[in-house]
Amino acid sequence: SKPLKIGLAGLGTVGASVVRLLDTHATSLSARCGRPLQLVAVTARSRKDRGIKLDGVRWVDDPVKLATDPEIDVFVELMGGEGDPAKAAVEAALKAGKAVVTANKAMLARHGVAQAKAAEASNVQLAFEAAVAGGIPIVKTLRESLVGNEFSRVYGILNGTCNYILTRMELEGLSFGDCLKDAQRLGYAEADPTFDIEGHDTAQKLAILASLAFGVAVDPEAVYVEGISSIAPEDLRAADELGYRVKLLGVAVKTEQGIEQRVHPTMVPKTSAIAQVMGVTNAVAIDVDAAKEIILVGPGAGGMATASSVISDLADIARGTHVPPFGLPSSQLKPSAKLPMQHHEGG
Ligand code: NDP
Ligand code: HSE
Repeated sequence: SKPLKIGLAGLGTVGASVVRLLDTHATSLSARCGRPLQLVAVTARSRKDRGIKLDGVRWVDDPVKLATDPEIDVFVELMGGEGDPAKAAVEAALKAGKAVVTANKAMLARHGVAQAKAAEASNVQLAFEAAVAGGIPIVKTLRESLVGNEFSRVYGILNGTCNYILTRMELEGLSFGDCLKDAQRLGYAEADPTFDIEGHDTAQKLAILASLAFGVAVDPEAVYVEGISSIAPEDLRAADELGYRVKLLGVAVKTEQGIEQRVHPTMVPKTSAIAQVMGVTNAVAIDVDAAKEIILVGPGAGGMATASSVISDLADIARGTHVPPFGLPSSQLKPSAKLPMQHHEGG
C-alpha cells in the first residue's frame, strides 16, 4: 500500500531519535498503520554526521522548501524556536496541504490558534503530541480519551529539566548550575535554557493543556509565570524539614472568574503522588467529572521518549485519523484571560 512520505526538519536530540525509531520499528509500524512510514527528505543547519541512517533520503537545504516539497505528505518540524524558520515552514506546509507534526510548544503557544485555522482551511492535520511532557501521551488523553468529561483542573510537573535540577539539588546537594549543565548534556534543556528554568516552557505547555481541557485559545500571556532560578539547596532542605518537596508546577483550574493558569515553585507534601516524581520524569494530574482523577507519569524529555510521541502522530496521519488540533474547531475556542493571582497552598 501507498507509503506515508515524510519530510523532517531538525536532526538534533529529537529529530535523530525519530530517524532511528522509523528505521528500527519500520516493520511493526507498517503493520500497525496499514502502510509504511517512509522518510524521504530531511534538513538541518549543518550536514554533519549524526550517526543515523539516511541512505536514499534526500537533503533539502531550506526548511520552507522542504515543507512544500511535492514528494512529501507530512512535514515534521523538530527545529524549535517560536519564530522562523519553524513558523514559516509549518505555515507553508499547511498552506500547501501537507499534514504537520511538531514538538514545538514555543511556536504553538504563540501561533497555535492561527496554525490550527490554517490546518482546518486546508483540511489537514496539525499534530503535536510531543509538544507537552515528552513521552507522556497527554494531548490525546485530554483531547480524545477524555472527550466525555468536563474538566475542573489539570496540573503537574511539565518540565523535565527543572524537575531533574530540583531532584539532584535535593538528593545530592549539587549546585543549580552543575545540575543545569548535566540537563543540557543529556539533551533535556531547550536551546536557550532560560525557557526551562524561568518557567516559560512550563507555561507554554500549560497553555496548550488548558486549551485542550477547557476550550480556551492557547495564549502564553494568560499564564502567571515564576521559575526556579532563585531556588537554592537550603530552600529544599528547609522544605524537607517541614515534610515537603519543592516542585515547579503548572496549574490550570476552572474558577468562577474563568480558567486560571499559573506556573510557580510549589511546596508539595512528601506523601503526595506528585512529590514522588523525580528526575526528568513528568506527571500530569487531571480532575474530571466522570473519570474522576487520573495521573499520567513518564519521561518528560529526552530524544527517544519524545520521538515516541512524534511517531504516534505520524501513525494517526498514516491511519487517516482526523480531529481538530485543539479538540474544537478553532473558531469555537474562547478567549483566554490572565486572572489576578490569588493565594494558593499546594497545587
Ligand atoms: P536540538 O537543538 O537538539 O535540534 C534542533 C535541530 O534543528 C538541529 O538538528 C538543528 O540543526 C536544526 N535547526 C535549528 N535551526 C535550524 C535552522 N534555522 N534551519 C535548519 N535546521 C535548523 O533540539 P531538540 O531536538 O532538543 O528539540 C527540537 C524541538 O523539540 C524543539 O521544539 C523542542 O522544544 C522540542 N522538544 C524537545 C524535547 C527534548 O527532550 N529535547 C522534548 C520535547 C519537545 P544542527 O543539528 O545542524 O544544528
Ligand atoms: N526542555 C523541555 C523539558 C523538553 O526539559 O521538559 C521537553 O519539552
